Amino acid sequence: MSAWTSADYLRGEQYRDSSKLAVRASLHGHGRGDWFEWVARQVRWPMAGEVLELGCGAGWLWEKGAGDIPEDLSLTLSDLSPGMVKEAVGRAESVGRWRRPRGQVADAAALPFEDESFDLVLAMHMLYHLSDPAAGVREIARVLRPGGMAVAATNGRETMAELFALKAAVFGGAGRDELIDGFNLENGAGLLASAFEKVELVAYDDALTIPDPEAVLAYLTSSPPGDQAGPAELEALRGEIAAVFEAGGGVFRVRKSSGLFVCRK
Ligand SMILES: C[S@@+](CC[C@H](N)C(=O)[O-])C[C@H]1O[C@@H](n2cnc3c(N)ncnc32)[C@H](O)[C@@H]1O
Repeated sequence: MSAWTSADYLRGEQYRDSSKLAVRASLHGHGRGDWFEWVARQVRWPMAGEVLELGCGAGWLWEKGAGDIPEDLSLTLSDLSPGMVKEAVGRAESVGRWRRPRGQVADAAALPFEDESFDLVLAMHMLYHLSDPAAGVREIARVLRPGGMAVAATNGRETMAELFALKAAVFGGAGRDELIDGFNLENGAGLLASAFEKVELVAYDDALTIPDPEAVLAYLTSSPPGDQAGPAELEALRGEIAAVFEAGGGVFRVRKSSGLFVCRK
């Protein structure tokens, strides 16, 4: 089992709190705008509905997208990591827009919720962490009411290929983000179509212009295998990074493809 689908690693280390995720998120700040603001504008929010977010992470959607999210929703923020649930609930509470957001530690593959109990389920950049993403898809469909909507975000298979090429040069691997192999923009629709009547993809393409080599190093050492790099590997990584910044005239350009699957039950 890879570290990325090990519950102990995800809950106890990688996502114990949002610090490592925040390092990676900050690199995305060099693109076209704020992802969460965009997501909040894409979602058709239900009127006075029950909303569940799976793999809520630090709850950034509820802060950054707040202006486009109605106040009359009941929120349940859920994650495998207790640290993330605490942070997300605290963040949503501090926005002060929703009455008592509820937190729930849960594995998306085995949800502790009744059938047909939510109007909207959000699962952003998280289904690929499941060893069986189809189990998560089935659970989302089970807890959604008839006519309800699911929104699942992920990345394209070749997203940030320029960045993952640096990783491959030092650590080996495919030169792309292998974490998302189980659920990405290319295979996600097929998985979702087994549980939903209608599945539509809304694409979010972007290009980053990164001005800071240290931000690239921090990204690549925030997760396996970079987080275990020894001195020689770190030096090699610094060399690879320096070379792309030199070739780019002092910046590093990285193409991204992300998107949302919007699904109707
Ligand atoms: C890449 S982060 C995304 C967080 C948040 N959705 C966002 O977009 O910022 C993935 C999140 O999924 C959570 N996660 C991983 N495996 C999970 C599982 N099996 N069930 C529920 N949450 C899981 C992690 O703890 C982490 O908070």
